[in-house]
Amino acid sequence: MISGNTRFVPLLAHPCRHVRTPPLFNAECERQGLDMIMVPLDVRPDMLQQTVFSLRAVENVAGMVITIPHKGSVSALCDRRVGAAELVGACNVIRREADSTLTGGMLDGEGFVAGLRHEGHEPAGRRTLLVGAGGAASGVAHALLQAGVVDLTIANRSSEKAEYLARQLAVSFPHARVVVGSAHPGGYDLIVNGTALGMHEGDPLPVDPVGLDKGSVVAEVVMQPDMTPLLIAAEASGCRVHRGIHMIEQQVQLLVDFLR
Ligand SMILES: NC(=O)c1ccc[n+]([C@@H]2O[C@H](COP(=O)([O-])OP(=O)(O)OC[C@H]3O[C@@H](n4cnc5c(N)ncnc54)[C@H](OP(=O)(O)O)[C@@H]3O)[C@@H](O)[C@H]2O)c1
Repeated sequence: MISGNTRFVPLLAHPCRHVRTPPLFNAECERQGLDMIMVPLDVRPDMLQQTVFSLRAVENVAGMVITIPHKGSVSALCDRRVGAAELVGACNVIRREADSTLTGGMLDGEGFVAGLRHEGHEPAGRRTLLVGAGGAASGVAHALLQAGVVDLTIANRSSEKAEYLARQLAVSFPHARVVVGSAHPGGYDLIVNGTALGMHEGDPLPVDPVGLDKGSVVAEVVMQPDMTPLLIAAEASGCRVHRGIHMIEQQVQLLVDFLR
C-alpha cells in the first residue's frame, strides 16, 4: 500500500519500455517489509539534469536507479561517487542523503558476478573476453577483476572507450593483464556481452559464434529478450549460456541495501 510514509525510488531510463527491475525491486521491498516503491520514469537525455535536480529536492525520494542511456552522464550530477562508480565514472544507483546531497554507486558488476556464482560459474582464473565499454560493461569489468579474473580482453565498437577503461582498470588491478583486443571469441573460457546488442530485432551479434569454443561460458547483460540471438547461437555451438536476468535478480538485494 502506498501511503504518505512511502519512500519513492524513480528508475530513470529512455526509453523505459524494456525495464525489468521495478517488479523485482518492489517484491524484494515487500518481502523485507520496507515501505519503498520503484516506478520507471522515461527521461530524455536533454532533460536528465533537470529531472535529477528536481528529484533531489523531494524529501521522500530515497534515491534513483539509473539505466540506459544515462549511467555515464548521471555520474557528474552526483556530489560523490563510491566504490566502482568512482573508478568507472558511471552510476546505476544514487542515494539521496539526509542533507539532500547525492551519492552515486555502481552495482551492475557486483550483481553480474553474484549472478554468475549463483548459477555455478565461478569467474576466478577464467580467460575472459568482455564486449562493450559502456556503463554496464565497465562495472562488469571492475567486478570480474575484483572476483579474481587475471586475464581480461575488452573489445568495443568505440575503441578509445575500451582503451580508457583498460587504462583505468590497470591502475587498480596491476597484477592482472587487461588489454584491448578484437571480439573474436576463440580461446576464452568466459565471453560476456556487455553491450546493448541483442535488445532489438536485427541487431548484429556482438561476437561471431563460429569462433566460439565448445564448453566455454557465454554470458549476457541484455535481459530482454530472455534468450538473445547470441545465447541461442552459443547454445547451438555447445557453449554453456548465462542469461542477463541473473544479473538483475542478484542485484536487487544490493540496490535495496544501498537505498534503505
Ligand atoms: N541484466 C542487468 O541487470 C543489466 C544491468 C545493466 C544494464 N543491462 C543492459 O546492458 C546493456 C548496456 O547498457 P549500458 O547501460 O551499459 O549502456 P551504455 O552505457 O549506453 O553502453 C552501451 C554499450 O553498447 C555498445 N553498443 C551499442 N550499440 C552498438 C552497436 N550498434 N554496435 C556495437 N556496439 C554497440 C556501446 O558501444 P560504444 O561505446 O561504441 O557506443 C557500449 O559499449 C543494455 O541492454 C542494458 O539493458 C542489464
